[in-house]
Amino acid sequence: MKTLADKVILITGATDGLGKQAAVRFASRGATLLLHGRNESKGKETLAELKQASGNDKVEYFNANLASLDEVRAMAGSVLSKHTRLHLLINNAGLGGGPKGSSKRELSRDGIELRFQVNYLSHFLLTYSLLPIIKSAAPSKIINVSSIGQHELDFSDIMLERNYESFRAYRQSKLAQVMFTIDLASELRGTGVVVNALHPATLMNTNMVYEFFGSTMSSVEEGVDALEYVATSEEAANVTGEYFDQKRRSKANPQAYDAEARGKLREMSFRLVGMANGSAD
Ligand SMILES: NC(=O)c1ccc[n+]([C@@H]2O[C@H](COP(=O)([O-])OP(=O)(O)OC[C@H]3O[C@@H](n4cnc5c(N)ncnc54)[C@H](OP(=O)(O)O)[C@@H]3O)[C@@H](O)[C@H]2O)c1
Repeated sequence: MKTLADKVILITGATDGLGKQAAVRFASRGATLLLHGRNESKGKETLAELKQASGNDKVEYFNANLASLDEVRAMAGSVLSKHTRLHLLINNAGLGGGPKGSSKRELSRDGIELRFQVNYLSHFLLTYSLLPIIKSAAPSKIINVSSIGQHELDFSDIMLERNYESFRAYRQSKLAQVMFTIDLASELRGTGVVVNALHPATLMNTNMVYEFFGSTMSSVEEGVDALEYVATSEEAANVTGEYFDQKRRSKANPQAYDAEARGKLREMSFRLVGMANGSAD
């Protein structure tokens, strides 16, 4: 297996589940790992565990609650102040359906539907903020950890003020990630930066799955294998703008291929994060 000793990798949501185990895998291959979490003390513990498990000391921790766009901006600023090149950005942090049966609509600190922001919009902002150092590391990669669970976006009710259901909110955010993937890949064609979306595995044994479904179907290891394949395999090296169902190129919800819908999402996203086409207003 090829060493990743000269690579810098940032994983959001690296304090648990898929993100944490993927961090161990990539750190064991020698990469410099930038771990993101939302809880300082859990982050510090994860950092210590990761050093122990991988024997790699090139690990750093960045804290930001993705329910706050200001915290995302601050985190991006901190990464940019310490690093000039980022070879792999894995947008992985996510909030699932929550406890089954909970129907209370939740908002972020910015007043945005919570799952739309945490799973999608904050990663949109983080990605655009870090794009200069991703471009300077080319050939480089962005992977949006999406899901096979996708729900069409209703542009007359993106914030789900009508008919709210937490798992629909989750699935809408996961499709938004795929739509973002296709658009960003097209924008970055020719720069040496490739962008893909990934369904890592179905019902892995992680907190979000236990909380909503109560039982699991696959291991986190399977998800890490798929993520590692999309991130580092020769076969996937130049693939861009695709949705992978584990290691297979696959088709997402049809709305992902609707350029007009993607354009609406893109325009709305830049407006919500206060950027004009990739640069701060
Ligand atoms: N598990 C599956 O079967 C499955 C299937 C398809 C896709 N996925 C996707 O895989 C990704 C990882 O999920 P997982 O299964 O590993 O879930 P998980 O074990 O619940 O981990 C989620 C991670 O996201 C972080 N996070 C949650 N809310 C956050 C917030 N507001 N701000 C910052 N960080 C936040 C969590 O932080 P804490 O450690 O502080 O909780 C944790 O590190 C998600 O994008 C999910 O949609 C999972």
